[in-house]
Amino acid sequence: IATHQHVTPDELEGRYVVVIDTLRATSTIVTALANGCKQVFPVTSVNEAQVLSSSWDPDKVLLGGEGQGRPLPGVFLGNSPRAYTTDVVAGKTLFLVTTNGTVALHKARKAAQVLVGSLLNGETVANRIIRDDPDDLVILCAGTQGQFSLEDIITAGKILGHIWENRPAVVNELAIAAFQLFQFNQHQLAPLMAQTVHGRRLVEMGDGADLAFCLQEDRFPVLAYQAVARVCLLPPE
Ligand code: MLT
Repeated sequence: IATHQHVTPDELEGRYVVVIDTLRATSTIVTALANGCKQVFPVTSVNEAQVLSSSWDPDKVLLGGEGQGRPLPGVFLGNSPRAYTTDVVAGKTLFLVTTNGTVALHKARKAAQVLVGSLLNGETVANRIIRDDPDDLVILCAGTQGQFSLEDIITAGKILGHIWENRPAVVNELAIAAFQLFQFNQHQLAPLMAQTVHGRRLVEMGDGADLAFCLQEDRFPVLAYQAVARVCLLPPE
């Protein structure tokens, strides 16, 4: 288990990585894909989103994301998963820019496998890991302001708990700690999340309903993986 600020792309090269940003980027990606979005390009700036999407049919493209948690100028949708409904996203390609989540996905670009994890699809992700049985699993948490965040550890704990039940030998003690944290709090996730830095910020911004949304366990049993290595030239800022 690591936060993305503490690992380099080279350290993730060839490894099996699950990226988690419970609040909210990976929850948004999973929701969008479950609701019929065709694909998501996680990008690291609005400029990059605009450059990459400029050659696409505008009717088939959505720009989404946040800076400091708020929708960005030039970006149509924010980062609330509740905005990514079927009528908005079906058949569209989403270019998503967020502060931590899409940066973590970008960091994992050299990994052999990258799955997108959230509470919304945790069991599905765990089942795929159990099937693939990797010997070099990294749970890459997006965190908040460079620190581990409780909401990401809780999601990691859910996923690792499923793995522990099936493959006890492959789970280390940090994974067991994460699972026990999840298990201890499983029935009180909402009040716990409301105390986190990120949870408090979402409530202050009027996006408190996103907490309950992102905490729905296994609402979308979908498997999202990152398949495209992005290669692009950006114009000077
Ligand atoms: C992030 O990537 O930092 C988050 O998804 C921010 C948010 O929208 O809450």
